[in-house]
Amino acid sequence: MSFEETKELANGSFIPRLGLGVWQVKDGAEAVDSVKWALQAGYRLIDTAAAYKNEVSVGEGIRASGVPREEVFITTKLWNADQGYESTLKAFDESLNKLGLDYIDLYLIHWPVEGKYKDSWRAMEEIYKSGRAKAIGVSNFHEHHIETLLKDANIVPMVDQIEIHPTLTQEPLRKFLADHKIAAEAWSPLGQGKILGNSTLVEIGKRYNKTAAQVIIRWHLQNDIIVIPKSIHQDRIKQNFDVFDFELTKDDIKRISELNINERLGPDPDNFDF
Ligand code: A2P
Repeated sequence: MSFEETKELANGSFIPRLGLGVWQVKDGAEAVDSVKWALQAGYRLIDTAAAYKNEVSVGEGIRASGVPREEVFITTKLWNADQGYESTLKAFDESLNKLGLDYIDLYLIHWPVEGKYKDSWRAMEEIYKSGRAKAIGVSNFHEHHIETLLKDANIVPMVDQIEIHPTLTQEPLRKFLADHKIAAEAWSPLGQGKILGNSTLVEIGKRYNKTAAQVIIRWHLQNDIIVIPKSIHQDRIKQNFDVFDFELTKDDIKRISELNINERLGPDPDNFDF
């Protein structure tokens, strides 16, 4: 994978800019095949989580792909019920076991559970120092969660994975992350497929002979956002990776960013109850 296709994190490790997300991908053949097809199509980043309950199949898909483990960047996440110092250490080991791996490339705190995420972070720092997670970060953290974390942290999170798509562009938070050298990563980057019929996206795509999905993925990449579209269909998995042969203009990017209506498809991290 060429340099342009990876981003250097604050600790010097490199994350592929485009990967496969497997939220809502069923454990078993569906997850095994999606991961295998993605790796065979050239993807080198797979993003799962303990909560997705498909880590076993993700591990199987990696092995079935024939791509050497060291060429693949694997992210998984600590679930809310496992937050706390000791329980984080235990949950990390369970994720490693399920995936059948001896290290994770990026381990994230999935949600900012009040009163717990600082203890979880101390455990994440230990895991990072042991070398069993090559990078650590957070997910669904607003600016104020990160500021609270940083008061006692020894290590600044390398990534914040948040909901970003053209109808929720999160520009203020992205600027805050960039100022702190924290990489922004988008979940539900295609707006869960709900915005693929948008006329602006379709019209821009026509000029490049690309689909709305490809236009959105390109918008993320050109905005320096790590992007992990989900699909369980081989043709779409391939299509979503076929985005390195065109470039959106500044005007295209501006028009897509103007689709922002601050519309969350998932919960607001200040107001979740799981
Ligand atoms: P499927 O898995 O059936 O292919 P997001 O990544 O924002 O969560 O969006 C994922 C949704 O978008 C899924 O419902 C997925 O459906 C759909 N999807 C992913 N890629 C494409 C594509 N290239 N064209 C149409 N729909 C897509």
